Amino acid sequence: MKALVYGGPGQRSWESVPDPRILEPTDAIVRIDSATICGTDLHILKGDVPEVTPGTILGHEAVGTVVEVGAAVTTIAPGDRVLVSCITSCGRCRFCKEGHYGLCTGGGGWIFGHLIDGLQAELARVPFADTSVYKVPDGLSDEQVLFLADILPTAYEVGVLNGRVEPGDTVAIVGAGPIGLATIMTAKLHTPGRIVAIDLADARLEKALEFGADVTINNGSEDAVAKVQELTGGLGADVAIEAVGVPQTFELCADLIRPGGRVANVGVHGHSATLHLEKLWIRDVVITTGLVDTSTTPKLLKLIEGGRLDPTQFATHRFSLAQTEEAYDVFAAAAETHALKVVLGGKPVGHELVEREELALGV
Ligand SMILES: NC(=O)c1ccc[n+]([C@@H]2O[C@H](COP(=O)([O-])OP(=O)(O)OC[C@H]3O[C@@H](n4cnc5c(N)ncnc54)[C@H](O)[C@@H]3O)[C@@H](O)[C@H]2O)c1
Ligand SMILES: [Zn+2]
Ligand SMILES: [Zn+2]
Repeated sequence: MKALVYGGPGQRSWESVPDPRILEPTDAIVRIDSATICGTDLHILKGDVPEVTPGTILGHEAVGTVVEVGAAVTTIAPGDRVLVSCITSCGRCRFCKEGHYGLCTGGGGWIFGHLIDGLQAELARVPFADTSVYKVPDGLSDEQVLFLADILPTAYEVGVLNGRVEPGDTVAIVGAGPIGLATIMTAKLHTPGRIVAIDLADARLEKALEFGADVTINNGSEDAVAKVQELTGGLGADVAIEAVGVPQTFELCADLIRPGGRVANVGVHGHSATLHLEKLWIRDVVITTGLVDTSTTPKLLKLIEGGRLDPTQFATHRFSLAQTEEAYDVFAAAAETHALKVVLGGKPVGHELVEREELALGV
């Protein structure tokens, strides 16, 4: 088969590799129908994630069709369409039993494209298949569910739920990349009073408005703290969600919240940030961190099925799997290409969707 293989910092190629095989009775082999690229894959290519060894197939977000199952797999069968998500669950360890799959100590957690071969490939071996994949309801296209593999549960769990967004809240979201935009989308499920999107890039702020932000602030040219205070009678935001991953934006979030407010950190940090306890100790604030568990995936899937959530607007560019290298170039140059998420190999399955696409193409 062909796959996108990491060759060490700065090196990747779409090349021939051996087909994956069932190694454990709990494995399944899935044919990848649609996959996508994550900012984390770009971090890996920069050499920021040294556990990823050269020769590893990248990718941790896909929708595919089961082609083979191990002897112990009972809930999925060849032919089933499944969402293969960034987090795998052994189903047996203490953390999996508590629903904290991201912390799995039984061999799961974030393993695809990290500790084992990933999903930007024609085929993939999926460990702990029974407890890790989600059947795709009939009638939903790959593109409708693909972004449940990472950005939507990440934004919802680590941002919105950890930040305890409540009806009426002023929610400040720092960073309007795919994660920040998914935070806007899922925060709306909790009917906040006002969503304030903060970013350095005007193009991203325009997207934030499309995704449902009420107010945007370019913190390169405006004082975000002063503007949020002005909007909130001098108090500050109820919740600030960090969706960038640099020290300045974490510290900005701590400055943006009101007394008793909540900071939910989503960004992956590579450098230490300062926690100003000398200012914060008296303000009754809550600060949370987290890796996504994907425990809300079934709920988000139901919302998509019911027409309450439509993540297809994240798909800005489409490629065949064989064009994965080109897709990386487009995704990595997001400032110029305005890419949010690229879809590799996807094609709509619903007749209605096909017709809509054909209409859009004028065929
Ligand atoms: N906790 C988790 O489980 C988890 C899972 C997935 C991704 N992440 C992390 O979430 C973060 C966001 O991911 P993404 O894919 O949206 O990233 P991205 O790089 O596509 O977007 C980041 C956005 O932040 C903006 N930005 C950069 N510096 C800024 C600053 N100083 N002030 C304001 N805005 C600034 C950029 O313009 C961009 O729009 C990353 O750190 C990613 O690694 C965390
Ligand atoms: Zn990811
Ligand atoms: Zn586990």
